[in-house]
Amino acid sequence: MSEIQFSGLFDLTDKVAVITGGSRGLGLYTATAFLHAGARKVILVSRKAEGPQGLNQAVQKLNALPLHGEAISIAADLSKPSEVERVVEHLKKTEEKIDILIANAAATWGGRFDETPDWAVAKVLDLNVRSVFNLVRLMAPLLEKAGKIGDPSRIVITGAGAGLMVPPFGPENRVISYGVSKAAAHHLARYLAVELGPRNIATNAIAPGFFPSKLANGLVDILGGFDAMAKANLLGRYGRPEDIAGVMLFLCSRAGSWVNGVVLEVTGGSHLVGDRPPSKSKL
Ligand SMILES: NC(=O)c1ccc[n+]([C@@H]2O[C@H](COP(=O)([O-])OP(=O)(O)OC[C@H]3O[C@@H](n4cnc5c(N)ncnc54)[C@H](OP(=O)(O)O)[C@@H]3O)[C@@H](O)[C@H]2O)c1
Repeated sequence: MSEIQFSGLFDLTDKVAVITGGSRGLGLYTATAFLHAGARKVILVSRKAEGPQGLNQAVQKLNALPLHGEAISIAADLSKPSEVERVVEHLKKTEEKIDILIANAAATWGGRFDETPDWAVAKVLDLNVRSVFNLVRLMAPLLEKAGKIGDPSRIVITGAGAGLMVPPFGPENRVISYGVSKAAAHHLARYLAVELGPRNIATNAIAPGFFPSKLANGLVDILGGFDAMAKANLLGRYGRPEDIAGVMLFLCSRAGSWVNGVVLEVTGGSHLVGDRPPSKSKL
């Protein structure tokens, strides 16, 4: 007889999750997956409230799902330390504890190395690294209240394949500050795993390849479009919402409760060899 308790292995019943960058793209896929898995509440944090890309439409979509959990949002610019503090102060008043933090909001900048302005480097590093560090530092007490041995609370930082290798996008499309920020985000996850593990908080990162999104679409267009990128990928496609749902549910459920300090690549293998169509290959 098998001793595996399979029932509920990927279940998130009653969990409360904070998802930065939850208004669209990978953050919204994650919020959707968490509600399907039984989460009691997902709290989305992005800048814009209004409009077709804003928080309100995301909350509306999520709350229209025939599920028990609810979605709410907090509009905040997380690149500013004062805004990170405001969000956490608000959460301390409204939530007894937080089970899951998905640090997913990020900025990118692409172009020639010689022409990269300082403000772009600062913008990318501030949001992708500094604000993640501060958010985790300030939220740790709320996460600690939810964690226990055998079921730690979880932090997942969204990194990127570009933080694991130097992608061959050509000299006009360098993403150096972005790639460096994501390498730092991956290593931050490892440090946090050591720092927070003994407080029953497990920290991991994911490193996605290309998924259609506002952040990625411009670069993918320049590189030849998603169909060309799919052909260049080892598994012949680009990312789907379910790919993100799968890894996030694994890392945040009982299935991943003893995983701490890993960077999980979700790239179809492109973190090994890049995704640039061979005909355009120019490092
Ligand atoms: N899509 C890909 O191919 C890909 C590949 C590798 C890694 N990733 C990573 O996946 C994560 C999500 O990206 P995505 O592709 O889903 O992009 P996206 O659709 O453009 O979503 C970005 C999210 O971050 C929010 N955001 C941006 N700046 C913010 C700020 N200063 N404060 C608070 N929220 C902010 C955006 O909302 P507002 O603009 O309203 O603030 C939005 O909710 C990022 O960490 C990205 O680096 C994506």
